Order: sequence, then structure tokens, then C-alpha cells
Amino acid sequence: MIVLGIESSCDETSASIVKDYKMLSNVVYSQEIHSEYGGVVPELASREHQKNITYVVDRAISKSKVNINDIDGIAVTYGAGLKGALLVGLNFAKGMSMALDIPYVGVNHLEGHLFSNIMENKEIKFPFISLIVSGGHTQIWRVKKIGEYDLLANTVDDAAGEAFDKGARLLGLSYPGGPEIQRVSEGGDSGFYDFPRPRVKKSKYDFSFSGLKTALLYKVREMGDEEMRKNVSNIAASYQEAIVDTLLDRIDRISTEENINQISIAGGVAANKRFREKSEELSSKNNISIYFPDLSLCTDNAAMIAMAGYEKLSSGVHSDLALEANPNLSL
Ligand code: KG4
Ligand code: ZN
Repeated sequence: MIVLGIESSCDETSASIVKDYKMLSNVVYSQEIHSEYGGVVPELASREHQKNITYVVDRAISKSKVNINDIDGIAVTYGAGLKGALLVGLNFAKGMSMALDIPYVGVNHLEGHLFSNIMENKEIKFPFISLIVSGGHTQIWRVKKIGEYDLLANTVDDAAGEAFDKGARLLGLSYPGGPEIQRVSEGGDSGFYDFPRPRVKKSKYDFSFSGLKTALLYKVREMGDEEMRKNVSNIAASYQEAIVDTLLDRIDRISTEENINQISIAGGVAANKRFREKSEELSSKNNISIYFPDLSLCTDNAAMIAMAGYEKLSSGVHSDLALEANPNLSL
């Protein structure tokens, strides 16, 4: 079976062709227009998707070398995400489904992230723990099987990716902030300043990152421009360390208490180098397996959507034309 995946939930326009669980193409166009605004501007995002979607889908089909008439079904993100952005991909999928007379299915963006690891690491067995850590989400799920998930932890305020993005802004770095903080941290002293490792009262596992961001704001003010310029890599490294430690603390505790030693990490923050290094340390110390997707599959992409949709389409699950974009869709 050949599936075309389409993703447009935030600021990546992406299309992918998957054939029998094999990724034949994965074209991702990352919108750079937002970098000057320090975050994603929803209206610009949908306009950019509209401008690029035909080209991106075309490229994905031609790179895969499949004939457009051989595509059996379309999988498209219909939530969660920005409404206007989601609508571009969803309407495009509906149009193609009608034009080619093939079924399409709506896919939950978060389920897509779950699949980014399963498709690459066939040895992952159910049940496993999944940390989805992106610009919009910081959630830990117990994945019992495909379609059966229990939420174990969530953020009560900012997502970890947002903490990177907002932190970068305070340090005068551009958007997206995660890769910038990682870059500036290189060679910095992560022990230079001891940022708080935030906990949430009355909750064992939940995350809170807004206090950390405020701690950075105070530190930036206290240090002043000159001292900050000299120490920006130390501060960035210390801030990154606090986010990474917080994520690893929850993984460690949940894995022990749930007695599950397979952990899958997905989402944009999974690309973070320091996070990967410290996960490896935790993994060998506690004898747990921590899986990260290939870097190209960490940030939003249509291959993960095609894979998740593949399951649904091959078991006969289709969406009808009345399906609406759902910005707050949960797993
Ligand atoms: O999954 P994603 O592409 O989009 C959402 O669904 O949010 O994640 C984007 C987020 C941004 O907040 C970005 O700063 C963060 O992932 N990110 C990183 C890195 N690369 C992307 N955070 C830390 N380190 C990175 N290398
Ligand atoms: Zn995402």
C-alpha cells in the first residue's frame, strides 16, 4: 500500500510517501519567516502553507518515484495545531482524495510523533513510555498499544520547547530557540549557574517551565549587558541543563515506578544534543532503553503522519469530508 502523508499543523509544510512501512520520501519546508518575530505568527503560517503546499506534495511524489495514480490513500494531520495552518493541509488532502478517488484519513499530530520512533525502532515492545517534547507539548504517555494511551504527566504551563524559545529570546537569540541555545551552549559551563529544577506541588510527575524562564529573566537583568555578553554561553548551557535535567528526572522516576524500561522520546526537543548525551548516561546507569528518532524525524514531518495513517487506512478506517480541523485535539 502507498500512502501520501501531509503535515501543516504549525510552521513546517511537509509531505511524504510511505510504501509498505518504508519511507520513500519526506520533504519538509520549514518556514523561516517567523524567526524575525521570535515565535510562530499564525496568519503568516497559514499563508506560507498555502504558498508552498502544492510544490511540497509534488516534490514528495516525484522524489519517491511512485506514480500519482498508484497512491492508495492520504493521511493528514487534523489536530492539534494552529487552526488556519491545519486547514490548509486538511483541505488539500480532501481535494486530492476527491480528485484521485482514493480515501483519506485524519491523523492526530501527537500520534504521528509516537510513530516517528516506532517506525525506526522495530524492537520497541508494548507497553512503553513515550515523552513527547516539542514547542507545544511536554507530555509523558504510557503506550499500551496503538490507539491505547494513558497520560502520566503534562506541563501545567509552558512546554519544554517553549522554554527553549522564550529563553532564547531573553538571551537575544533567534527563533526557534532550541537549536540556538544548543549552539551557544557549546563550550559553555553548564554548572555556571544553578537554575531551579522545577517541580509541581501536588503532582508527582507534571512539568512546569514558566518559573525557570522567570529565573532566567532575573538573571539576565541582574548581570547586565556587559557581563551577559561575556557569559552568554555559560548561561545558555546552565539553562539548557536545567530543562534537560527536569525531563530526565521524570523519565527516571516514571520508568522506575511504572516498572517499564523502554522509553521513546519524540518531538522537536528530542533533537537536543545535551538531552541525548545525558539520556545515554541515564540509560546505562539504570539499564533502561531510551529511543530517539533520527534528527530529520524529530521536528514536525509528514513521514510520521503517513506511518500513523498507514495503520488506520490499512485497517479500513477512513475520514469523510465533514472532518474539521481540531486545534485542541488530544490523544
Ligand atoms: O515538534 P516541533 O517541530 O513542533 C511542535 O510541534 O512544536 O518542535 C519545535 C520545538 C521548538 O520549540 C524548538 O525550539 C525545539 O522544538 N527544538 C529544540 C531543538 N530543535 C528544535 N529544542 C532544543 N534543542 C534542539 N536542538
Ligand atoms: Zn510536533
